[in-house]
Amino acid sequence: MNGTKTIEGRAALIEELRALQARGESLALVPTMGYLHEGHLSLIREGARRADRVAVSIFVNPTQFGPGEDLARYPRDLAGDVAKCEGAGASLIWAPDPAEVYPEDFQTWVDVERLSLGLCGGTRPGHFRGVATVVCKLLSLFRPKVALFGEKDFQQLAVVRRMARDLDLDAWTEIVGMPIVRESDGLAMSSRNAYLTPDERGRGLSLRRGLDEALARFAVGERRAAALVEAAREPVVAAADRIDYVELVDAATLQPIETLERDACLLIAAFFGRTRLIDNQVLRVEG
Ligand code: PAJ
Repeated sequence: MNGTKTIEGRAALIEELRALQARGESLALVPTMGYLHEGHLSLIREGARRADRVAVSIFVNPTQFGPGEDLARYPRDLAGDVAKCEGAGASLIWAPDPAEVYPEDFQTWVDVERLSLGLCGGTRPGHFRGVATVVCKLLSLFRPKVALFGEKDFQQLAVVRRMARDLDLDAWTEIVGMPIVRESDGLAMSSRNAYLTPDERGRGLSLRRGLDEALARFAVGERRAAALVEAAREPVVAAADRIDYVELVDAATLQPIETLERDACLLIAAFFGRTRLIDNQVLRVEG
């Protein structure tokens, strides 16, 4: 790999993308908000396997943060991110200014109506509108062969897939979902883990414990959603400062279910101090 090029301006990016297209090179896109960790890097590495070039966007998207959320203090380290991107095989980084992404008088939004309603959308109103809008813009701009997203943000992945299908972005771009990358003790990697005190981080492990508890019940035949949710809830109730939700939903529609008959996803969001952590576990039903 001969270096990673960092571009800020939109015009310069378009020029670069046109040159890439003229050379007949295929492109993978990994959208991120930066402060990269192994979860992000797993997406970049998979992108490098699936396309000639990998582009990484690094943009703390203001429209997906609600009032009172952590936009202003979201961790940033562009120099560190550039080195990590280079190590993982990315050849292009786009790190735009908010004014470049949202020009004055911006007024076009993407709203994935039903999938955005519950779970994180329930407690973070407007969040998925911001996500869908920025991802739509990125897919329109880059027109990559593949775009990679983590299952860590399970609802986000569902929203992005729906948006790509509904707006025909999937004509050019395959949306690829990748497994959750965890620390050795089970904590799902997240840029927001940097906020945690050692005590909060220790208590944050309860998310994985809750999911494991439910997974164990599932493995011995439990199919009632209420029982599985209760099993997952128990360790989290004891450890978290506040539970946002623990829910078992249909993996495709994200609708709540009572009895597990198809693939489902158990999702947890909880606060440890001021930090909100999320995690999830897909429960696969055979046959
Ligand atoms: P960010 O939180 O930076 O995550 C960027 C991508 O990395 C997302 O697809 C996310 O699901 C994935 N990711 C994060 N942690 C992961 C982990 N532990 N294992 C695997 N993948 C992981 O998600 C966003 O940014 C933004 O909402 C974005 C899509 C960039 C739109 O602004």
